[in-house]
Amino acid sequence: MIVLGIESSCDETAAAVVNDQRQILAECLHSQVAAHEPYGGIVPEIAARAHLDYLDEIVAGVMADARLTFDDLDGVAATAGPGLIGGLLVGTMTAKAIAAFHGLPFLAVNHLEGHALSFRLLEDLDFPYLLLLVSGGHSQFVIVEGVGTYRLLGSTVDDAVGEAFDKTAKLLGLGYPGGPKIEELAKQGNAKSFDLPRPMIGRKGCELSLSGLKTAVRQTVARLAGDSIPSGDLANIAAAFQTAIGDVLVDRSGNAIRQFQARYPGREAFVIAGGVAANQYLRTRLSELVKGEGMRLHVPPQKLCTDNGTMIAWAGVERLRLGLTDGFDFAVKPRWPLDPHASSKGGGEVHS
Ligand code: KG4
Ligand code: ZN
Repeated sequence: MIVLGIESSCDETAAAVVNDQRQILAECLHSQVAAHEPYGGIVPEIAARAHLDYLDEIVAGVMADARLTFDDLDGVAATAGPGLIGGLLVGTMTAKAIAAFHGLPFLAVNHLEGHALSFRLLEDLDFPYLLLLVSGGHSQFVIVEGVGTYRLLGSTVDDAVGEAFDKTAKLLGLGYPGGPKIEELAKQGNAKSFDLPRPMIGRKGCELSLSGLKTAVRQTVARLAGDSIPSGDLANIAAAFQTAIGDVLVDRSGNAIRQFQARYPGREAFVIAGGVAANQYLRTRLSELVKGEGMRLHVPPQKLCTDNGTMIAWAGVERLRLGLTDGFDFAVKPRWPLDPHASSKGGGEVHS
């Protein structure tokens, strides 16, 4: 079974061809970071136009790399939400057109499901497992019970973790995307130089709230007189911020693990996915916690953590082998929570 997958929900235009033997036959990704960098964040109109400009070529490229024609495929998958509507339309229309012309099934994939199932492309990880999904547009703890069955334990009530990194980096004048820049700078800083809050720590449940931390960084920067902050202080703020995030994630993850273990005693897999999972400091902090709780940490390699077409193609394989195909009338969903039973808060954030 071979599936073409398309991802265009945010600022990456990507496609990949994957089979049900866990082989990536081809993958290609065009990042729009340079186009958005001058604005310090993603501009939806620029993103939609760039997807239009690049997608056809990227799809033709992966098919050529895989040495396949469209008739060799068993299905065509595309991210149908959550995300920016322009990009979602470009990706799903392209997938539907290919599927309709070649008489193939179309698979509308939830972007968050792509992240949630990505580790199963690497190895045969059984359901259920606990997932911490942390990226620029979403931050949530989810029990992955099966393909299409997700139980939301908690999510952010305001900013996503990646968003907090990006906004903090902007305040520090580091540019976009902020995560890697803060991680790098934090290595030279002393986290104890600045005392930043750890919102939600010690509270029940596993919801996150990060806007207070961001405000504290803004106040700290203002106190140090805006743009003439010595570079040593910048590094110290970066380190203090990253450590605060680490403390918050460890506390919240501890509660999520206890809820997961109460529901599924003996199950031990904890998966982290999303762009923030690339952060080595946070990985180390979470790995210590997870070990201490008797669970095992699984983190996909970085190129599978950040947005990519491969995870969408793989989610397409997972859905296709269960017969979960979609009609050509499937409408994109800019908001699309993984767990439809959870409260609307947090479950279906739009990418930012
Ligand atoms: O999953 P992703 O590529 O796109 C979304 O779905 O949002 O994640 C991008 C986010 C950005 O906010 C970026 O700053 C963050 O992931 N990120 C990191 C690191 N690398 C990327 N955050 C912290 N540390 C990193 N090393
Ligand atoms: Zn994502």
